Amino acid sequence: MFLKNAWYAASWSKDLTDAPLARVFLGEPVVMFRDHDGAAVALEDRCCHRAAPLSRGEVSAGRLRCGYHGMLFDGTGACIEIPGQARIPAGARVRAYPVVERWNMIWIWMGEPALADQDKIISLPWLDDPGWTITPGRLDLKSNYQLVIDNLLDVTHAAYLHRNTLAADPREATEPTVTEPLPDGVRVGRWLLDVRPPPLFAAAGGFNENVDRWQFVTWHPPGVVYLDVGCARTGSGAPQGDRTQGVSFWSNHFLTPQSETTSQYLFAFARNFRLGDDEFSQRLFEGTRDTFLEDVEMLEAQQHNLVGGALDRTVDLLADTAQLQARRMMGRLLSAEAA
Ligand code: FES
Ligand SMILES: [Fe+2]
Repeated sequence: MFLKNAWYAASWSKDLTDAPLARVFLGEPVVMFRDHDGAAVALEDRCCHRAAPLSRGEVSAGRLRCGYHGMLFDGTGACIEIPGQARIPAGARVRAYPVVERWNMIWIWMGEPALADQDKIISLPWLDDPGWTITPGRLDLKSNYQLVIDNLLDVTHAAYLHRNTLAADPREATEPTVTEPLPDGVRVGRWLLDVRPPPLFAAAGGFNENVDRWQFVTWHPPGVVYLDVGCARTGSGAPQGDRTQGVSFWSNHFLTPQSETTSQYLFAFARNFRLGDDEFSQRLFEGTRDTFLEDVEMLEAQQHNLVGGALDRTVDLLADTAQLQARRMMGRLLSAEAA
């Protein structure tokens, strides 16, 4: 069961062109493209004539033509032309989904269009601020999206799962976190004082000594997670609020369910130093992607073990506090929507 009345991340802006892009969100096939003015459009990817995927057609002059018998659809989903036939039947239309382009992303609303309030899109200014450089990526994941949220709301797993990429300090596994419920989400985080910096951070900040490291994760339902992470030389005042001697990142994660067992995963690191340094961007992108791939491998293996069983017969640990709060909040939102 998925929350329908919510904004989901559909695509990075850069990945949407005037060529049809086929996706599945919340079990529904969707085709996206840019119209004549460059505005994003999302339609049901199923022709109203004989159910051909419209993504197999082509966009011309900002409209989408079915690749089977040539019906032409505008951005509202209405059929506006049928080859060899002047009269357009009343039901000749496909569903159009509300979309908004914001923060370098396309957001889609899969629920009741009248409820699609743009003000409910989470604020992520660092994703399209010239003071930040972002390294966006996308993965298809064979795992329920909630398992990824669990993963992101638990910073302790790095000590084990990411020991080859993040080479985290052993205290990563044991240092307690503080969980804070928000009106529209959950925040969890901690400081790790006087620890070895992970190689990626050491390279970014030129650290060859211990650092004070921060990790603060914020989740907003259903699928937005961002991490405020970074480190600064130990004793330079970062825990007291002065981060000028350190490096800061926003690590952004966007989960959109495709089915109960698959998800679209969009991610991006945003940084406010070495802006426009493409070589560093590439290294950062590859480094973070390799780390995510370690998560992906585990998440898919978990999903394999969970088929048909959700999370029954599992135990919860102290470090699961934030993910349990998130799951409870999702449960409340889903019940409210069902009612
Ligand atoms: S299936 Fe699309 S026009 Fe026939
Ligand atoms: Fe991870």
